[in-house]
Amino acid sequence: MTIDEKIQVLLEKKEAAMLGGGAKRIENQHKKDKLTARERIDLLLDENSFEEFDMFVSHRCSGFGLEKEKYPTDGVVTGYGTIDGRLVYIYSQDFTVFGGSLGEMFAKKICKVMDMAMKMGAPIIGINDSGGARIQEGVQSLAGFAEIFERNILASGVIPQLSAIFGPCAGGAVYSPALTDFIVMSKKNSYMFVTGPKVVQTVTHESVTDMELGGAVVHGSKSGVAHFIAEDEKEGILLLRKLLSYLPQNNLEDAPVLNCTDPIDRFEEALDQIIPENPNKPYDIKDVIHAITDDYEFMEVAQAYAPNIVTGFARFDGRSVGVVANQPNYLAGVLDNNASRKAARFVRFCDAFNIPILTLVDVPGFMPGTVQEYGGIIIHGAKLLYAYGEATVPKVTIVLRKAYGGAYDVMSSKHLRGDINYAWPTAEIAVMGAKGAIEILYNKKIAAIEDPAEKEEAIRNYQQEYEEKFANPFDAASYGYIDDVIVPHTTRFRVIRAFQALATKKDTNPAKKHGNIPL
Ligand code: HXC
Repeated sequence: MTIDEKIQVLLEKKEAAMLGGGAKRIENQHKKDKLTARERIDLLLDENSFEEFDMFVSHRCSGFGLEKEKYPTDGVVTGYGTIDGRLVYIYSQDFTVFGGSLGEMFAKKICKVMDMAMKMGAPIIGINDSGGARIQEGVQSLAGFAEIFERNILASGVIPQLSAIFGPCAGGAVYSPALTDFIVMSKKNSYMFVTGPKVVQTVTHESVTDMELGGAVVHGSKSGVAHFIAEDEKEGILLLRKLLSYLPQNNLEDAPVLNCTDPIDRFEEALDQIIPENPNKPYDIKDVIHAITDDYEFMEVAQAYAPNIVTGFARFDGRSVGVVANQPNYLAGVLDNNASRKAARFVRFCDAFNIPILTLVDVPGFMPGTVQEYGGIIIHGAKLLYAYGEATVPKVTIVLRKAYGGAYDVMSSKHLRGDINYAWPTAEIAVMGAKGAIEILYNKKIAAIEDPAEKEEAIRNYQQEYEEKFANPFDAASYGYIDDVIVPHTTRFRVIRAFQALATKKDTNPAKKHGNIPL
């Protein structure tokens, strides 16, 4: 063969690989309103930045007629490219080849890019659209999955790992995305479950559809498995790009710093009036967040799951910050099982990747009741406590209104190595609210008063005495647990100054193999 002929062979092989499982199956994919594995990569990465590996890999299984059916790439497109000029490794499962199912060589391809991502200290992004274990390859598929899981585990806390679910993701296949840091699902075609509707019907006699069992809305709001819910794949891909902009390449680097044109001393007068006179009246904590961040921007994580706590990324003076805030607008911002787990995971992510944490506190306490106690509020609440107490990144906390009881301690208090703890003048830092405290402290005295008017006045007086002592930030400030009481409209400026001062912070935890977080 001449060199030209050899080049021609190469080009033909490459062209064949580009077609995956063939034109007919690509058409089917499009009919389902789904993009192909390659179209997804093209949209996600910077233009022409994709460099592919292992195009010529195919399976080496010979059972069930598979020896006659081979496709270059073996059903997963892998390689590297850039997003906003920054290196990322990627794999994208190709549903047109054996339904994107995972066999031995498919798994080896994924492991190769994961290993490279680890060596290079760059994020890994996995796009999932697969029928799970390739049935014909038997234990080789199971082994392949476990090889990936192990890499997910070793990469955890070292490089950001992002997953998109743009099709089926079933059986044990769900555990690789579950081990990654963030999952994006598209509403249209994606679903995740350990056992599908047919098995569910047989075992529990429940009748559910794929979407009812594991669609994006379910995982975004009920299970908390998915962190971002997109209307469609294109939106999901944009979310991935945006998310990466807040993250560092790895645990030894800082997130990129953007040029900030929003004045750092922008005063938001509306914040002075945002806390209602009536302490039982809610307000939207997201109004506070938006008012203080660069360009009013906030990328919320797990928006629909446990909305009583808000988590997400923002920038202050161009620097990435993780925000955790109680949401008085939903269940009065109480800490329950789901809210504790959600915030704990987010805090740990930020700490692992050197992203400072801003905590906005307005919390009436932990949610009482059998549902919460039986559900393990002790252990889930402890997760959040552990996460904050363990975190060594800069931690700035602002108590806006209520900081009652154990929840005061948990929400990045001074006692959990909070670095700079501010309060608004509207803060109330106490063991509990006035009404509850009076009932416990003066129950017998109040019961002994027979005259109703006298009784009412006594309650009022006790309550007033308690409120004067505790319904303010000054008692806590008198012990140095609050570093300063700040005027609400200056919050943006004070937060930025605080993070600037903490930029060189160094703190460590005792040497250990790993802690034993209450899982
Ligand atoms: C081999 C598979 C496959 C699989 C699909 N295909 N799943 N091939 N192994 N697991 C093939 C089909 O034969 C078909 O081939 C093509 O992919 C498209 O599949 P369709 O069924 O035509 O597509 P659709 O109707 O869209 O249904 C998609 C699906 C369904 C819901 C994913 O295919 C399905 O239920 N597949 C099996 C899922 C499953 O049970 N997987 C094992 C889970 S257990 P042709 O040639 O017609 O294009 C597991 C254990 C992992 O994953 C353990 C890890 C620890």
